Amino acid sequence: MIYELSNPVTKTLITYLREEKSDAIRFRHTVAELTKQLVYEALKEFPLKQKIITTWQGEASFGVVDEENLIVVTVLRAGMPMLDSVMELLPNATAGFLAMKRDEITHKSVLYYDRLPDCRGKTILLVDPMLATGGSMSDALELIKGRNPLRIITLNIIGSPEGLKVVESAHPDVDIFIAQIDERLNDDKFIIPGLGDAGDRSYNTF
Ligand code: PRP
Repeated sequence: MIYELSNPVTKTLITYLREEKSDAIRFRHTVAELTKQLVYEALKEFPLKQKIITTWQGEASFGVVDEENLIVVTVLRAGMPMLDSVMELLPNATAGFLAMKRDEITHKSVLYYDRLPDCRGKTILLVDPMLATGGSMSDALELIKGRNPLRIITLNIIGSPEGLKVVESAHPDVDIFIAQIDERLNDDKFIIPGLGDAGDRSYNTF
């Protein structure tokens, strides 16, 4: 399932990201805001667990997200502001890290760091702002699936129709929540109109 956000506020924030003059702090902040919107949408049907808390009227039971069964996996580098944003909302979730770099000649992703916690029976939120060819996302999903999670949901800021097709056909069981589906990929496999390279824009490495 692919779900694209349609709120005008979402579209406004995407426009800020496209603007070349948005500096790194604005860029990361906007990615973080969009991530929160994606989390709200992605966890809409998520079951609540009951928690007994002390309120001004004494002890009572209320619903909370079952954060202990939630793992947020980020793809470095560009996924870092997204991880921080999810962990601000759900601070008791567990974090996992994958580092991947897209080879600029072959356009294939190369894994160079894997620090995933025990994923058995857990719900995984895989976060990466860009889904271009879909290679990085597909590889990350395959790796995570090898660790036997219960379910995987991806959160992406911007993607191409071509890349989404690749991920959807390789992983039809995964739910993809994305803020913006753009027009296409260019010959260098960049998203058009897109926003440039999210890793470089987040960390001033041009
Ligand atoms: C970007 C992005 C994805 C990948 C998407 O990372 O964050 O991980 O490219 O491209 P794909 O769909 O064609 O695989 P990049 O390799 O630029 O690394 P970075 O995050 O360190 O900048």
